[in-house]
Amino acid sequence: MRVLAMLDGTLADPDRPHLRVDDLGALRGDGVFETVLVVDGKPRELGPHLDRLARSAAMLDLPAPDRAAWERVTQVVIDAWNQPGEMALKLVYTRGPEYGDGTPTGYALGLPLAAKALQERVAGVAAVTLERGFDPEVVPRAPWLLLGAKTLSYAVNMAALRHAATRGADEVIFVAADETVLEGPTSTVVAVNGATLRTPPPSSGILPGTTQAALFRAAERAGWSTKVEPITRADLANADALFLASSVRKITRVRELDGVPLPDATTRQAELNALYESEYS
Ligand SMILES: Cc1ncc(COP(=O)(O)O)c(C=O)c1O
Repeated sequence: MRVLAMLDGTLADPDRPHLRVDDLGALRGDGVFETVLVVDGKPRELGPHLDRLARSAAMLDLPAPDRAAWERVTQVVIDAWNQPGEMALKLVYTRGPEYGDGTPTGYALGLPLAAKALQERVAGVAAVTLERGFDPEVVPRAPWLLLGAKTLSYAVNMAALRHAATRGADEVIFVAADETVLEGPTSTVVAVNGATLRTPPPSSGILPGTTQAALFRAAERAGWSTKVEPITRADLANADALFLASSVRKITRVRELDGVPLPDATTRQAELNALYESEYS
């Protein structure tokens, strides 16, 4: 099942074409997006997702997204989905047709969760570290690199995942030129040592994760300590447990890194998932 609604709130047939061939989202990946997890009709972290959509749009000099319209279209898709369980809701906002009147394109698309993500939530993932090709110092100097914006230009991220697959891995942890840890192609890295959760800071040119933020909120309430600070590649190997967090995968454990099995973190994963879920119960 799939449900599509255009930003004006009208439902549309997801099996029919709706984008113009000169849409700059398609021609140049010139746009931004969000993926929101909806559970039993309730969108998780919608506010933070819409905040991030607005921040990404500002970084691309797109017109500020109409928040009320995005909230409305989210509800239109949820109402039409009309099924229990989980849905991945994509919010897509592009610069619009190249030869148009300058109006951006916006739509919301509800999709079933990918089987791979569901399976990895249980089984965990094997990950490899890969160079992302920039030094963290470049981040404040080069805003045109759009580091930390959730743009539609995910071709590099997808290529990294295909490269990982050629090495027998499911996932990637990007590292910067100075060996600091960045993020996954579609996830935030969380390292656990004792009762401390750590994640790299957005200032290193990565996307601030809404799932990681929800987990850290719950963890702090439960008495864990949380740190948003640089992590090195060596820290990854010394962590008690490593996780990749994102809206659709929730908190998925890394069971193998660069071909080396990590200590069994099944119990830790259950603990972190219970913390994360406590935000929504
Ligand atoms: C590059 C990147 N980092 C982190 C995340 C995790 O963000 P969130 O937890 O808000 O889904 C995503 C989500 O897709 C992502 O694409």
